[in-house]
Amino acid sequence: MAELTDARIRVPVDAPFLVAARGGRPSRIPVWFMRQAGRSLPEYRALREGVPMLASCFDPEMVREITMQPVRRHGVDAAILFSDIMVPLKAAGVDLDIVPGTGPVVASTVRSTADVFALPRLDPDALRPVGEAVGLLLESLGETPLIGFAGAPFTLASYLVEGGPSRNHERTKALMHSDPDTWHALLDTLADITLTFLRTQIEAGVSAIQLFDSWAGALSARDYRELVQPHSAKVLRGVGDALPKIHFGVGTGELLPAMRETGADVVGVDWRVPLDSAVRRLRDAAPDAPPPVVQGNLDPAVLFAGWPAIEREVRRIVDEGHAAAGHIFNLGHGVLPDTDPEMITRVVELVHELPVGE
Ligand code: CP3
Repeated sequence: MAELTDARIRVPVDAPFLVAARGGRPSRIPVWFMRQAGRSLPEYRALREGVPMLASCFDPEMVREITMQPVRRHGVDAAILFSDIMVPLKAAGVDLDIVPGTGPVVASTVRSTADVFALPRLDPDALRPVGEAVGLLLESLGETPLIGFAGAPFTLASYLVEGGPSRNHERTKALMHSDPDTWHALLDTLADITLTFLRTQIEAGVSAIQLFDSWAGALSARDYRELVQPHSAKVLRGVGDALPKIHFGVGTGELLPAMRETGADVVGVDWRVPLDSAVRRLRDAAPDAPPPVVQGNLDPAVLFAGWPAIEREVRRIVDEGHAAAGHIFNLGHGVLPDTDPEMITRVVELVHELPVGE
C-alpha cells in the first residue's frame, strides 16, 4: 500500500508502540494516554482561547501544534491526532456543536427511517484539512507513530439519536429494539462515514488507528453482537490489515471477545477488569486466535491520588500486562481535565523503566 512506501513516514518498524501492537517484544513498554492532547495542559488551553472546539479541528496548523504538545511534554510513545469523533459528521454537514463541559449536541435528532435517509453523505474533500494536518504531523513527529481514530457507529448513533450525551441511552435502545431495520440502516450509514474518516487519515500517513466505541458498555453482549458488532466489523475490515487497529470502549468487560472479533488487533480495557483477566477472557473465547494484545488500564482518577498510590497502581498494571502477548500502557479512559500534567510525565518515566516481560 502507498503509505508503507511514503518517504515522509520516518517511523521505524521497531518503534515500541508498533511492536507491542503486533504482539512482539518491544525494547520498552510503550505508553500513551487517551485525551493526552487536551484540557489538562495549560499550553492547550492558551492555544484554544477563543477558538471553538470544532473550528480548531479543521485548522491544520492548530491540529499539528495541539497533537505535538503532549509528545514534547511527556515523551509518550505515540501521538493521537487532535480531532473528535464528531468531526466526520460535521464535515458531512450535520448540524452539531461541541459544547464545553457538556459534549456533542446535535440540532436535529435521528429517530425515523426518513431521518436516516436524510443524513448527508460524506464527501472526502470536506476532510481535506484533516489529511493536511496528518501531513504536517509526519514532519514534526519524525520517529514517533501517529494514531488516527474515529468513533464507532454505535457511539456516533447514540449522539445522533439522543441529541447529546446520555446516561441511559434510552432513545437509542428504544430505536434498536423497536425498529431494527431503521437501526441497521443508520449504523450502516455511519459505518460508511467512519470508514471515510479513517481512510483519509490512513492515506495521509497515520501509523495505527483506534476505533472508539466509548458507550458500547451500556449494551448486553447479546444486543452488542446482534445490533452493533456487524457494523464495527464493517469498519475494521474495511480499513484492511496494513496497520494495527485498536478497539476501545468503557465498561466493556463482558464485550471484550466480541469487540476483538470485529477485526481488532489490540483490545482497549478500562480499569474495571484487571489486564490478566482481560487476557484470559480473550484467550478462552478464541483459543485458536493469536495471543491477545491489550491496551490500558490505569483508572484516570488514580492520577489524583498522589505519587505513592500512582506508582503502586502502575507497577501492578505492568505486572498484569505481562499476561498479554503485547501491552500498550494507557489509562482506562481519557485524561480528566484537572489532572496534574506532572503526574502523567512521571507515569511515562516509570513505565519506561519497568521490565518488558518474557
Ligand atoms: O485523545 C486525544 O487527546 C485526541 C483528541 C480527542 C478528542 N476527542 C478531543 C476533544 C479524541 C480521541 C476524542 C474522542 C472522543 N470525543 C470520544 C471518544 C473517546 C472517549 O473519551 O470516550 C468521545 C465520546 C467524544 C465526544 C466528546 N467530545 C466529548 C464527550 C467531549 C467532552 C465534552 C466536555 O467538555 O466535557 C468532547 C470535546 C473534546 N474532544 C475536547 C477535546 C480535547 C474538550 C473540548 C475543549 O477543550 O473545549
